[in-house]
Parts: sequence; structure tokens; C-alpha cells
Amino acid sequence: MANVTVKVVVLVSGTGTLLQSLIDAVEAGDVDADVVAVVSDQESAPALTRARRHGIEAIAHPWAKGTDRAIWDAQLADIVAAFEPHLVASAGFMKLLGENFLSRFGGTTINTHPSLLPSFPGMRAARDALAAGVKVTGATVFLVDEGIDTGRILYQSAVEVLDDDDADKLHERIKTAERELLVRAVREWEPGEA
Ligand code: GRF
Repeated sequence: MANVTVKVVVLVSGTGTLLQSLIDAVEAGDVDADVVAVVSDQESAPALTRARRHGIEAIAHPWAKGTDRAIWDAQLADIVAAFEPHLVASAGFMKLLGENFLSRFGGTTINTHPSLLPSFPGMRAARDALAAGVKVTGATVFLVDEGIDTGRILYQSAVEVLDDDDADKLHERIKTAERELLVRAVREWEPGEA
């Protein structure tokens, strides 16, 4: 448990159920943290609405196709830096973070992924696990590096694949495990941790 309230900026792209679980845990007093801002690459991300509903600053920073991705990345880093977070949590964020961002937040950015990495990296982890016929998959929280889902693994938890699973049902069950791991990772984050 950190001896300081961990200031967290959460990066989102979609529905924001992972974000919601963190907000709920903070509001319930289960985690000594403060979600100081939520930033999305999608103007219309429902996750931004969730943040606003809880009085959390919610910022859209969309990448316009064809524009310089490195500039977008540096701007994202500036937006995040303004909140002086101890931790950045990528929770359903669908953009790769580039070297500008990682040069500033590389040691303090975590991501959740719906598989037991290094198995099934990428955007279709649940579908790929089903296609591979595994009986157990799961969730991973890792430190983001320049690769795709390749950073140092911090937490994992297993999720059984059921006979009647399809990709959506399996992914929703995995997300329950992801939410628990995300909350645990924030709870146990020690600012200044490399
Ligand atoms: C999670 O499974 C995350 O790992 C993946 O997308 C999902 C996000 O869910 N990248 P939500 O937007 O938090 O509901």
C-alpha cells in the first residue's frame, strides 16, 4: 500500500468498464488513489461520459488519420503531464504509445490485457484463445514498453474457457478479472517504483 494517495490518469478508448471499476473502488475507499483525469483518443468514448458523471476531468485527444502520429503522441504526453500523475493506467486504450510518451511515462504506465501474456497479444485475445482451443486463459497487467503487449508482467489471473463460450462471453468474463487486477495494481503501486 502506498503511503501517498496515488494520482492516476486513465487512458481509455471504449466503454470504460475497467475505468468504472477503478472509480468505484476509489469511491468505496478500497484504494488510496485519485483518478485525476481520463483521456481518450475517441471523442465519443462512453468512458469519457463515465468520468464526467463522477466529476473527473475527461479529455478527448483524437488522432486525425494521416497526421503526424509522433506529434499526437507528444501532445498526449503533455496533456497527461499537466496532471502530474504517479501512475498512468491504460484501460481499454486502443492506441500504441510512442517514444515521446514512453520517454516521459515509460516506467509508470501500466496496461491491462485480456489474456495470459505472452500468449495472445493484440486486439483479439479472447477470440484467439478460443481458436487455439486453450482451456485456460486470463488477464494480465503489465508495464507498457515500446512493443505490443510486451512489457514486464506485474499481475496475472487465470480464467477458465467454458464449452459454450464465444469470444464475447469469454471476453466479458476475462474483463471481470482485468478489473480486479487493475484495482490491485493501483492499490499496490508505490510512487517512485521503477
Ligand atoms: C479490455 O478487455 C481491455 O483489456 C481491452 O479492451 C477492453 C476494454 O474494456 N483492450 P472497457 O472499455 O474498459 O469496458
